[in-house]
Amino acid sequence: MKTLTLTKPDDWHVHVRNGALLRTVIAHTAKQFARAIIMPNLKPPVTTVAQALAYREEILSAVPAETSFEPLMTLYMTASTSVEEVKSAADSPYIHAFKLYPAGATTNSDAGVSDVKQIYRQLETMEKFDIPLLIHGEVVDERCDIFDREKQFVSTHLEAITRDFPGLRVVLEHVTTAEAVYFVESAGPNVAATITPQHLLFNRNAILAGGIRPHFYCLPILKREEHRLALVRAATGGSQKFFLCTDSAPHLTALKENACGCAGCYSAHAALELYAKVFEENGALDKLENFASFNGPDFYRLPRNSEVVTLIKSPWNIPDFYANEDVRITPLLAGETLSWKLQ
Ligand code: NCD
Ligand code: ZN
Repeated sequence: MKTLTLTKPDDWHVHVRNGALLRTVIAHTAKQFARAIIMPNLKPPVTTVAQALAYREEILSAVPAETSFEPLMTLYMTASTSVEEVKSAADSPYIHAFKLYPAGATTNSDAGVSDVKQIYRQLETMEKFDIPLLIHGEVVDERCDIFDREKQFVSTHLEAITRDFPGLRVVLEHVTTAEAVYFVESAGPNVAATITPQHLLFNRNAILAGGIRPHFYCLPILKREEHRLALVRAATGGSQKFFLCTDSAPHLTALKENACGCAGCYSAHAALELYAKVFEENGALDKLENFASFNGPDFYRLPRNSEVVTLIKSPWNIPDFYANEDVRITPLLAGETLSWKLQ
């Protein structure tokens, strides 16, 4: 049987929520990954070290006993984040980054930043104490076409941030456009990007194939095929600047299949299998380990994992839903077959 063994990967951007939703999804992430960068966009957002440490405890108590999993915590940047908070985050062994959400850009981003100039003191401190900034890179402007919001962010705000803070480590999260890929490739080694499985596998047609398909709706939204191809080239091309982020973002099925459905794809159930599919289809399975297991820890200056995982070529069906307590979520590619299976 065909198998693929690689160093256990990490997920550099995941939403695990809290309460019953956390208890439903965390086993998937903990099975697939040794560590994961945990997004702070809870309600209310995780803005302080104390809140992040409490959230970390909640996550650890939900992880199944037989797995070892390390949540890497992040703080949600706001205009009122103090310089002291930035320093204590940089000092904490449990906090690994700040997340910048432009206010209104995505799920639970209302408390985000409406003008990047408002956080220049914080960014200066982050640069000095060397703690990375993770960016949701979309402008918030109703006049800007939703498919152009990332490109616009890159050419305005990202240019400015990287110019004004040349030493700041920056990750442009879940890139979706050729313009973002080009910007990151052309920038210094302290600027990197993460790429999701859905943006590597699908273009925007998936959202509207024969009807509206809400489980393919996430932000930044899927783009045209030419952009998908640019992402595949970035992920499989061997550059150290690109690494794995599922952006797995669970929402209740009822809130996705809705007149105003939430943004987010749930992919933690089959994360590595989805990446293996796209790397195999592009003849690049030999590049998967760098992308999934090496580039991320190298950028975050964490040790690479020592365990390994094995994928086997053994077709399996993704369930129609995952249910637990009062939670029901629909995974990406529900009801479809995948050819790789994580052992
Ligand atoms: C994320 C969520 O639901 O929290 N949704 C998404 O579409 N990716 C937020 C985010 O990362 O933008
Ligand atoms: Zn996200």
